Amino acid sequence: MTTLLRDVRPLFELKGRNYIITGGGQGIGFAVVRAIAEYGGNLAVLDIRDKPVDEYNTLAAQYGVRTIYLKTDVSNEQSLTASFNRAVEFLGSVHGAFTSAGIAIDKPFIEQTWAEAQRIQDINVLGTFFTTQLVARQLLKQGTSGSIVQVASITSHTVLPRHRMSAYNASKGAVRMLTEALGVELASDGIRVNSISPGFIDSEQTRVVRDKKSPEDSAIMDTAPPLSRIGNFNDLTGAVIYLLSDASAYTTGADIAITGGLHVGRIES
Ligand SMILES: NC(=O)c1ccc[n+]([C@@H]2O[C@H](COP(=O)([O-])OP(=O)(O)OC[C@H]3O[C@@H](n4cnc5c(N)ncnc54)[C@H](O)[C@@H]3O)[C@@H](O)[C@H]2O)c1
Repeated sequence: MTTLLRDVRPLFELKGRNYIITGGGQGIGFAVVRAIAEYGGNLAVLDIRDKPVDEYNTLAAQYGVRTIYLKTDVSNEQSLTASFNRAVEFLGSVHGAFTSAGIAIDKPFIEQTWAEAQRIQDINVLGTFFTTQLVARQLLKQGTSGSIVQVASITSHTVLPRHRMSAYNASKGAVRMLTEALGVELASDGIRVNSISPGFIDSEQTRVVRDKKSPEDSAIMDTAPPLSRIGNFNDLTGAVIYLLSDASAYTTGADIAITGGLHVGRIES
């Protein structure tokens, strides 16, 4: 049996759709916020920062979309639930989410405290878990399909050279397996769940880690990836739009590694 081929470009359209983005106040999350707006999607941004980066304020007028910013701690049940409910009230309905809120720590395993390790799991794992649960419940209530994109990491595939990030590795390994579990469990409800695994991306998170390193250890972010550079936000945004949109209608439980090749091999330097 053959099906009629359709144009590809319209499959990427997000016009009139509504998205929740955690950690969208800056960094990778904000890059995706901007990209969703460019594709016509309305946005609710949930982030622990008092306010988002300045460019956020230009998006509604520039792209003709609706936006709301809600100061939220995704590791706190009350804060997350209250913001989510406010977001749904504002947007009217939900079509999907991007869960970018996350923190990292680069510290020897032997020295990591209970509080540090726990905070990482609370934000990276449980924040992702319960944001996804709220979105899935809302989609079930609406009786509509949806797409959720979670943020795993290269550290769920391999151990980064000259980094000691065991608690972070463990959290991102959990996120990637959560993506697979939910990709299967929610498929029959029309809810797709996928993840991206960024490698070294030039952001506040990598800058904080980088600032504490020797010049040689820091340089590895530029030299180790087979594509011989650190990644940037636009290396990620196309993949996220693809996963949120109908262009990926037959993709769930998948992870897209965007690492300059570093998750499969490295250039020695
Ligand atoms: N930058 C990288 O190289 C890289 C690589 C792989 C994965 N990641 C992941 O990508 C995601 C985004 O990272 P980034 O590089 O943009 O870092 P970032 O620090 O620039 O952005 C993280 C955002 O999450 C928000 N946030 C932190 N804790 C929060 C909480 N409890 N509740 C709500 N919001 C919270 C921050 O305020 C910030 O806006 C993270 O999950 C990170 O682990 C980053």
